[in-house]
Amino acid sequence: MVQSAVLGFPRIGAFRELKKNTEAYWAGKITADQLLQVGKDIRATNWKLQKEAGVDIIPSNDFSFYDHVLDLSLLFNVIPDRYTKFELSQLDTFFAMGRGLQRKATETTKAVDVTALEMVKWFDSNYHYVRPTFSHSTEFKLTGQKPVDEFLEAKALGVQTRPVLVGPVSYLYLGKPDKDSLDLEPISLLEKILPTYIEILQKLAAAGATEVQIDEPTLVLDLPENVKSAFQVAYDAFAAAEGLPKLTLTTYFGDVRPNLDAIKSLPVSAFHFDFVRGAEQFEEVASILTPEQTLSVGIVDGRNIWKNDFSTSIEVVKKAITKLGADRVVVSTSSSLLHTPVDLENEKKLDAEIKEWFSFATQKLSEVVTIAKAVSDEEVSEALAANAASIKSRSESPLTNDADVKARVASIDSSMSSRAAAFPERLAEQKVKYNLPLFPTTTIGSFPQTKDIRINRNKFTKGEISAEQYEEFINSEIERVVRFQEEVGLDVLVHGEPERNDMVQYFGEQLKGYAFTTNGWVQSYGSRYVRPPIIVGDVSRPKAMSVKESVYAQSLTSKPMKGMLTGPVTCLRWSFPRNDVSQKVQSLQLSLALRDEVNDLEAAGVTVIQVDEPAIREGLPLRAGQERSDYLEWAAESFRVATSGVKNDTQIHSHFCYSDLDPNHIKALDADVVSIEFSKKDDPNYIQEFSNYPNHIGLGLFDIHSPRIPSKEEFVARIAEILKVYPADKFWVNPDCGLKTRGWEETRASLTNMVEAAKVFREQQK
Ligand SMILES: *[C@@H]1O[C@H](CO)[C@@H](O)[C@H](O)[C@H]1NC(C)=O
Repeated sequence: MVQSAVLGFPRIGAFRELKKNTEAYWAGKITADQLLQVGKDIRATNWKLQKEAGVDIIPSNDFSFYDHVLDLSLLFNVIPDRYTKFELSQLDTFFAMGRGLQRKATETTKAVDVTALEMVKWFDSNYHYVRPTFSHSTEFKLTGQKPVDEFLEAKALGVQTRPVLVGPVSYLYLGKPDKDSLDLEPISLLEKILPTYIEILQKLAAAGATEVQIDEPTLVLDLPENVKSAFQVAYDAFAAAEGLPKLTLTTYFGDVRPNLDAIKSLPVSAFHFDFVRGAEQFEEVASILTPEQTLSVGIVDGRNIWKNDFSTSIEVVKKAITKLGADRVVVSTSSSLLHTPVDLENEKKLDAEIKEWFSFATQKLSEVVTIAKAVSDEEVSEALAANAASIKSRSESPLTNDADVKARVASIDSSMSSRAAAFPERLAEQKVKYNLPLFPTTTIGSFPQTKDIRINRNKFTKGEISAEQYEEFINSEIERVVRFQEEVGLDVLVHGEPERNDMVQYFGEQLKGYAFTTNGWVQSYGSRYVRPPIIVGDVSRPKAMSVKESVYAQSLTSKPMKGMLTGPVTCLRWSFPRNDVSQKVQSLQLSLALRDEVNDLEAAGVTVIQVDEPAIREGLPLRAGQERSDYLEWAAESFRVATSGVKNDTQIHSHFCYSDLDPNHIKALDADVVSIEFSKKDDPNYIQEFSNYPNHIGLGLFDIHSPRIPSKEEFVARIAEILKVYPADKFWVNPDCGLKTRGWEETRASLTNMVEAAKVFREQQK
């Protein structure tokens, strides 16, 4: 009998219980105990769901109140000193590391002011993890036993689980040295961290865990030699230690073949590979197994929402059985289901035809079980027939076969993908047109999305207020944002995006070829979840999407107003993409829809237009090579197709965040001004790299994920530091990202300080 396995389940609750309660805790509205109980309830629900679906191998320790990598940092005492001096509870230390903390002193507690640790993309997904941050003084030791506690919790509920840990090589390699230890290479800490891993593994075994899932996703990256060789050292040490559970080494999000040498003789009991994203690797990876080792076949997509194609999956699993025997094969999700929404059953508004094509986390549980049954010759013929019919209906639907869209993509030529003039000529014309001061100040686009905005949007969605009333409300919000920016003294204004629920969903809802959900939330970071729209068919724009609001905003002010759009690559990356058409084709379809929008904005008098591409970096294939250069080419082409239909003096902006960007990649977009997330970049070499960027650039000056307010002096110091290597006449002054998650009060204070700092430098240049 072939077993079924799940590598991780969404931890946010079917109705975002985790977010609501975590934020209530931060606001002081519920106690720590109440929050802990919410976590416990979510875990119990998840385990029960998996058990009832018939999953054989169910994960534990896949839950986290913020981020599972941060959990491990807390567990292993990888806590920089700046977080320990306030005598916070363990839970509050954890949150302070994740999101920063600024708090006045009370009679019983000290004042706290500490920034968050760096947060970065989890591989090429839209999940972000908190980067482990090591220094020479880091002393690994267990500060608790969360994995054991959660294992025992499941056991008490009658569920035997397989605990999950990020493996030692990936944990170290995904980290970075702290500011005080820049010469430290995290992987050099391997020997030091292993005893702590061994200790927690022994505790898990003692608690009754027979097997642990140990995630080493870095195996899909290009790894330096010293990191590759670390695998053997680490897993030999585990094999030599007494009293450890069996280990399943899991890799996902790609092909591990380039690192096969590093793992081919590891003494683990099983390997898991992703055959959704690395189907080609099958023969070679299956060949490294010794006769004692098991193969976990990752075949149900943990990153997307499409119904599994059973006939294809069964073929792959059967191939594994032929090679290894049924006892040594496990059918699994390709990765954790963290990246998928919780339950399709909660979607009441989806078109029935389309809904039939989807499978969310809960549905994927029965998919792994059904595949495992099918290859074990259990009777599932009805499920297989229904699945085949659904796959066929999608491939033959008119939605996935729009001839007009296909013809327009085929007609894209070089005249459509470059501006009429080179940047210096455009700049000359734009200087005349906009007459901006040195160090022009701007924001990235969104302003605080207040409760009032959400209430009114909800009322409108439910039909409790009319379209006119809603428009009036939105206009009053836009006016407030415009007046606010004039008061603060910003130079290039935005309308604040009160009408937008999300930067991709808002456009997705207006494009043909998109579907969207009511409950399809996925964790992006901490308590921030997104509800990615779904590209279900060929994409086109029936009518203008953003012109009305931008034109209204421009009518309120003589200062330049930025029209705000989300770029084609970001629309693609932050949606669930199709899996039946290439990403390039989907991106070009989107770029044509956006080109129409950019041209409409220009024609309506909005001539500074920002096309955000925050997701361009995350789409970068994880390994260097042909696939990566192809990606960079079509990503840049898509941006240029969207933005090149305008006049020379129309100023195109773009924005990027969450990225370790290579300036060369953004050069190819040829935007007139780019702004990037930068406030947490300490490395002087990284600043230096950007000094050669030819067009104008705003290096983000403050972290918008944190409620803390940087002082004017802090801004001045930061700008001065950057100006040591960066030319003053190309320099824009702006925050890291949009301000929608912030409150008004802190936004006013931060932006005022930022504008004041810009003035200091303007004076100096006179
Ligand atoms: C833009 O600049 C190019 C190159 O100098 C020139 O050929 C073109 O006429 C300009 N377009 C407009 C509308 O001025």
